[in-house]
Amino acid sequence: MNDSTLTSRRGVLGVLALAASAALLPVRALAKAADPAMGVLEAIKTRRSVRAYTGAPVDEATLHEILACGMQAPSACNEQPWQFVVVRDKGMLAKVGEINPYAKFAKDAAFAVLVCGDLRLDKCGGYWVQDCSNAAMNMLLAAHSLGLGAVWTGIYPLEERVNGFRKLFNAPDEVTPMALLVMGHPADRPKPEDRFKAERVHADRW
Ligand SMILES: Cc1cc2nc3c(=O)[nH]c(=O)nc-3n(C[C@H](O)[C@H](O)[C@H](O)COP(=O)(O)O)c2cc1C
Repeated sequence: MNDSTLTSRRGVLGVLALAASAALLPVRALAKAADPAMGVLEAIKTRRSVRAYTGAPVDEATLHEILACGMQAPSACNEQPWQFVVVRDKGMLAKVGEINPYAKFAKDAAFAVLVCGDLRLDKCGGYWVQDCSNAAMNMLLAAHSLGLGAVWTGIYPLEERVNGFRKLFNAPDEVTPMALLVMGHPADRPKPEDRFKAERVHADRW
């Protein structure tokens, strides 16, 4: 796919705005979402995990846009079984590294989003992990598209981490922390990587 194809494609937030249109969101919300910062294919192909942040704050409108993109995700039976905890408190961000040693950099982030599955809302046969993963991926792409850096840090299905995050954030037993998305203005951005492997594509049958 060449650059001109990439740039000619609809912006990632533009696509989300169309989805919002289908859901009959208010016109005001659509107008805001239809201001693409980066094309959807460009965002997918250039996104990398960012684990170093400048310390600059992220404004509320940007945060709202990221959360709104998360909630536009497809889910089984449209059950939307997610709950998000927005973590800005530096003390809480510092404690994250005690539960997941691979997330110690969270202490330097502007904020993090704890993506949880609410099992009380999982009415369609146990699809909550896929549903919440879709929301998480939407938020990573939205953050990147808006110029922020972000990384998914894993929680579910590691029991120790699930219990640790549930306790730290005082979440009810029916709510399962799935991932912590750590975000901020990037101090460092890894280069895009081409990961296409023709041998992983099978024609018609294995
Ligand atoms: C389920 C999952 C769990 C992950 N957990 C961590 C983590 O705990 N800490 C971390 O720094 N990165 C974590 N990552 C990020 C991956 O290391 C990263 O996505 C992968 O190396 C590919 O690099 P990229 O995101 O830059 O394309 C996780 C990603 C996924 C999808």
